[in-house]
Amino acid sequence: MVVAIDGPAGAGKSSVARALAEKVGFSYLDSGAMYRAVARSLVDRPGDAGERARDVDIRLGDRIKLDGRDVTDQIRTPDVSEAASRIATDPRVRAALVVKQRELVKEGDWVAEGRDIGTVVAPDAELKIYLTASPEERAQRRAKDLGAPDWRVVLRDQTLRDQQDEQREHSPLRAAPDAIELDSTDRTLEDVVTQIAGLVRDRRGG
Ligand code: DC
Repeated sequence: MVVAIDGPAGAGKSSVARALAEKVGFSYLDSGAMYRAVARSLVDRPGDAGERARDVDIRLGDRIKLDGRDVTDQIRTPDVSEAASRIATDPRVRAALVVKQRELVKEGDWVAEGRDIGTVVAPDAELKIYLTASPEERAQRRAKDLGAPDWRVVLRDQTLRDQQDEQREHSPLRAAPDAIELDSTDRTLEDVVTQIAGLVRDRRGG
């Protein structure tokens, strides 16, 4: 079974997806980490983004490995966030990473998180969640995670990135028609995870 969790940055996807995977005993796929890893690889070694996305070896898990090198901490910087959003507009990068993502989720039970899981990577996913939160709350959460002193600066960057993600020609960020939209503003992580775990149980037939 695949549970697709899509939505904009800062909606709480990563925390929700990770906690949900643990609660229901599924594997967890952080597809954004793949875009980040390719972006990071291009910082180290400039080249063609599409080719790099195809050729690079990305291992996900507690630590993220790029061609055998641990890049877990290096892929969360503001520069890499911006570069990842940029290369995510390239259809060749998307095609190469979607192949890797489909390969992973084709067997077993997965909670897969990203922007296009329910629309492109796993359109047949048994459960699709589109997770949102108000822009202000998303920026405040991100600022806390990043240790940024002023969440308004984060809000400004976030607005630009949202526009880039929503307006790109290929696989723009949008909810799948059959996705359940959940707004996590003013809700605790536990509350949201419990609700989705209930939906997983329902879809599995009790
Ligand atoms: O979820 P994240 O912030 O780690 O994602 C990093 C970037 O990758 C973000 O700008 C959007 C892009 N992305 C995407 O286009 N499709 C995905 N399935 C996951 C991430």
